[in-house]
Amino acid sequence: MRIMMVASEAVPLAKTGGLADVSTGLSKALADAGHEVALVLPCYRQFISEADRGTVVGEVQVSFPGAVINAEVYETTIPESKVKVLLIDRPSFFDREGLYVEDGHDYGDNAERFLFFSRAAVEVAKSLFVPDVIHANDWQTGLVPALIFQARENGEPLGSIGTTFTIHNMAFHGEFPSLQMTNTGLDSEYFNWEQLEYFGKLNLLKGGIATADKVTTVSPTYATEICQPEYGYGLDPALEHRGTDLVGILNGVDMNVWNPAVDSKLPEQYTAQNYSAGKSACKSALQQELGLHENPDAMLFGLVSRLTDQKGLDLITQKAIQILGADVQFAFLGTGDSRYETILSDLQQAYPGKVAAVIGFDDGLAHRIEAGSDAYFMPSRFEPCGLNQQYSLIYGTPPLVHAVGGLADSVVDANRHTLDNGTATGFTFSNYDADLFLETVWRSVGMFQHHKDDWNKLVTNGMTRDSSWNRSAQEYVDVYQSAIEKLG
Ligand code: ADP
Ligand code: GLC
Repeated sequence: MRIMMVASEAVPLAKTGGLADVSTGLSKALADAGHEVALVLPCYRQFISEADRGTVVGEVQVSFPGAVINAEVYETTIPESKVKVLLIDRPSFFDREGLYVEDGHDYGDNAERFLFFSRAAVEVAKSLFVPDVIHANDWQTGLVPALIFQARENGEPLGSIGTTFTIHNMAFHGEFPSLQMTNTGLDSEYFNWEQLEYFGKLNLLKGGIATADKVTTVSPTYATEICQPEYGYGLDPALEHRGTDLVGILNGVDMNVWNPAVDSKLPEQYTAQNYSAGKSACKSALQQELGLHENPDAMLFGLVSRLTDQKGLDLITQKAIQILGADVQFAFLGTGDSRYETILSDLQQAYPGKVAAVIGFDDGLAHRIEAGSDAYFMPSRFEPCGLNQQYSLIYGTPPLVHAVGGLADSVVDANRHTLDNGTATGFTFSNYDADLFLETVWRSVGMFQHHKDDWNKLVTNGMTRDSSWNRSAQEYVDVYQSAIEKLG
């Protein structure tokens, strides 16, 4: 199959969160399975050096009212893979400090930037890489399936491409003034309550949901949750309307990148069969790196996260002082809301040697925290999939999670039954409640300190679970196939 993946971020070129890991990881898995994959990305010049850009293979032109905007298309590959990368180079849109945000503010022209990017990707699909299926991701590319839908209604050749749209997070709609409709390249008839209009505004997430042949999201549980008002962010009726066209597929992990057996970012590598010495070495190196007391017995909790309300940080901060009364340490790495940045930094000040809070984005440290911690905090309020809890499973660092979305689908709570049958991998709690969170922390501390055999079972179960992309990539292929079959 010829598959075009369109995304606004991808490792190692540009990343703010899990979408970047997924667009690359899935593309690599699809290419490994024998499909021809092109990943279309904006050429963010801050992030993508001249050398990384490859060579110019063509040019695309997009007509906006009053102006034709063009971009060169560079071609390169994802390192150590067969995935072709096509970069849309329009410096006036993408040669910036950030991907979407600068100094805490969204760029004022994000609508123009990503409408242009989506339209450019569709131009690429006309000639430079003609796919059987286009897989678009999140609001930044929600226009892509809508343009193919329109082409189909108009009987144009582009309409024979199947489309799949993946929702990575319902909280981000890509909502803009209705005037932006003139920049979409769509007829104004698509600005209606069943397609791209939402309370008088242009809503790109809704556009993708309404017009793609198939809609997926990143875990089976989240696929059910988002059809309900609590998690649907107002688009639950639109999702319910798609019925069986909406599918939940759990994200996999790129095992060449997140794997303690081969991870060169760690001071020592280790495997599920032999982790004890390697993991201890990673822990003491991490304690040293972060200025924590080098105490092997203190239970070290890690967290690597965007610092936003989504991630359940209020539960941690509400109970931190109580938890720190025990022989525990915290290693936090994150960036985001200044409110959380301040609280975490204040905790470090108040508990030197017990709390480390690194405010920033640091991929190497993210790997070292996954490996060097004993357990991992991920009590998210909601979580479409979540990759960090899966990374921590692989690194032998049992996660402590709120059982929602992909957290519920990837972590099995430790109790006598699940420990005995070999399925337990971490600790879960079912209601978003600080006392319940604290109770769960004490369960984990109790097991770590007093029941080492059970703890070691948890570690091994998590490390040996199949977290790779193999199964999920095949599920996407099935979805693509049914998108194509729908065309008849
Ligand atoms: P989300 O996409 O909602 O942010 P995920 O768990 O799916 O959550 O993915 C987050 C990804 O971003 C992981 O690869 C994680 O390691 C990375 N990440 C998040 N914050 C940071 C940070 N401050 N420094 C380095 N990596 C980070
Ligand atoms: C989003 C979600 C996260 C998911 C990631 C990749 O950022 O918040 O849960 O893992 O996308 O799909």
